[in-house]
Amino acid sequence: MQIVHSIPELRHALRATGRPAFVPTMGNLHAGHLALVEQARALGDVTVASIFVNRLQFLPHEDFDSYPRTFESDRAKLQAAGCDVLFAPREADLYPEPQTFKVVPDPALSNLLEGEFRPGFFTGVATVVMKLFMAVFAGKPQGVAVFGKKDYQQLMVIRGLVRQFALPIEIVAHDTERAADGLALSSRNGYLSEAERAEALQLSLALRALARDAVAAAHALPAQLPALEAAARQALAARGWQPDYLTVRRRADLLPPQAGDAAGSLVALGAARLGSTRLIDNLEL
Ligand code: PAF
Repeated sequence: MQIVHSIPELRHALRATGRPAFVPTMGNLHAGHLALVEQARALGDVTVASIFVNRLQFLPHEDFDSYPRTFESDRAKLQAAGCDVLFAPREADLYPEPQTFKVVPDPALSNLLEGEFRPGFFTGVATVVMKLFMAVFAGKPQGVAVFGKKDYQQLMVIRGLVRQFALPIEIVAHDTERAADGLALSSRNGYLSEAERAEALQLSLALRALARDAVAAAHALPAQLPALEAAARQALAARGWQPDYLTVRRRADLLPPQAGDAAGSLVALGAARLGSTRLIDNLEL
């Protein structure tokens, strides 16, 4: 596996290759990331992963400084997973000057849910993903990038970015990888104490219960949903969580369901804090 740090080095490494298959990450890799790499390997001619903790997508009070930087073990995992090129830019490589030009996603999507609780998050994500895409795919007639469905709204933002800028990049969604008990794999699970780790599964159980209740109330979902969502939030809060949202939305635009929206077009999404760790998960109905 070749390791490169700057955009010119990356372009040089990829100059004679065919279709790149790209997995962007912030490092601290777990089996979920490695599953994305495995999928990417089957989709392209050269597999590229990036590790970059992107300052632009963290709010001032969030964990940018303490976000785990585990380069050596990440490098070994990517090598073992069969990645061909690791792009690990230093901050000065991606942001040699303050990033004053940004990619601002449609607020109708990016101000909802995660965007409501993490204002500016999706502008930070879209901006760095655009830069990474330009670094990896510039000059290539086509490419593919693989993203996990755990970050459901992020995936929708990236799909919108690619569609509206007509980027020749296929976006492939990978199902959420889960631990044996069903907890969605996340780098932030590493922040959980042993007791919190045992409790953490309750978020996906709450989403499952909400999804079940929503299906049962399908005949009058728009009217009944607010009460079902409030009950789901209260159930988690009673266990010591601080829920941001537990909700059922339309998969197409993440807006609340309207009369006639069928269960197969909906998704339950949740975000809640357990101690000082904020977890997210989702479940398609
Ligand atoms: O999902 C992530 O890890 C990050 O948001 C991403 C896509 C690598 C951009 O920094």
